Amino acid sequence: MSKATTPTETVISIKGLRKSFGNLHVLRGIDLEVKRGENVAVLGRSGTGKSVLIKIMVGLLKPDAGKVVVLGEDVEQLRGKELDAFRQKVGFSFQSSALYDSMSIRENLEFPLVRNVRNLSREDIDKAVEKALEDVGLSQTINQMPSELSGGQRKRIGIARTLILKPEIMLYDEPTAGLDPITSVEINNLINDVRERLGATSIIITHDLTCAKTTGDRVAMLLDGKFERVGPFDEVFADKDERIQQFYNYKFVD
Ligand SMILES: Nc1ncnc2c1ncn2[C@@H]1O[C@H](COP(=O)(O)OP(=O)(O)O)[C@@H](O)[C@H]1O
Ligand SMILES: [Mg+2]
Repeated sequence: MSKATTPTETVISIKGLRKSFGNLHVLRGIDLEVKRGENVAVLGRSGTGKSVLIKIMVGLLKPDAGKVVVLGEDVEQLRGKELDAFRQKVGFSFQSSALYDSMSIRENLEFPLVRNVRNLSREDIDKAVEKALEDVGLSQTINQMPSELSGGQRKRIGIARTLILKPEIMLYDEPTAGLDPITSVEINNLINDVRERLGATSIIITHDLTCAKTTGDRVAMLLDGKFERVGPFDEVFADKDERIQQFYNYKFVD
């Protein structure tokens, strides 16, 4: 029953999550439920623990307390093959697009496939690579090197590399960081596209208000180690809380 695919199925459940590094109490009791097909944007200033949260969700970091259940799995308990299988279902697109500079775009995209999926024919691999590039609108770059692409194109290739394993859940860490506003809009559109075409559930970690507003059905505002507000963008930012207004207004400060 827990893995039934009803539209209201909860696919991510985080309860009472805590994480400290020495005296630095980063996450102080995070709660969040995400339904299948939903996109949730997590907003917070830099250094507030957004990447730590995503790393705990894929088992790269252990929490101090609390529970994270993703696709019915208690993430902290996963080991070895189970963890590998889990990471195929939960795509994680890193903050830096983390492409291998010495490999062509084709080789960068083949890498996760060859590592994670056994017994693929040359033809299967070629098809998957072509499809992933088409999905991000960059078919023409297949034989180029990462250094020949723009920042926005590299981000899209990074996303394609995650999509190639057809994940059920996509976790985007700062997908628009370091991009100009127009390129950021392209990435936001791509995130929405991926959601429509794959039916993926996504968490989009960002400090970019436009990104949060355009990609999130809900936004979760990370303040002082907790999700202080979770809800539709306009509702969250209608709040008079000084910290929320300060975050909202930061882009107008010169
Ligand atoms: N492995 C680690 N060891 C020690 N401190 C860490 C570690 N990972 C993150 N931190 C600290 O936790 C805080 C939150 O980090 P992070 O989640 O990367 O912030 P952001 O919200 O910008 O993604 C930062 O102060 C960071 O220095
Ligand atoms: Mg981060």
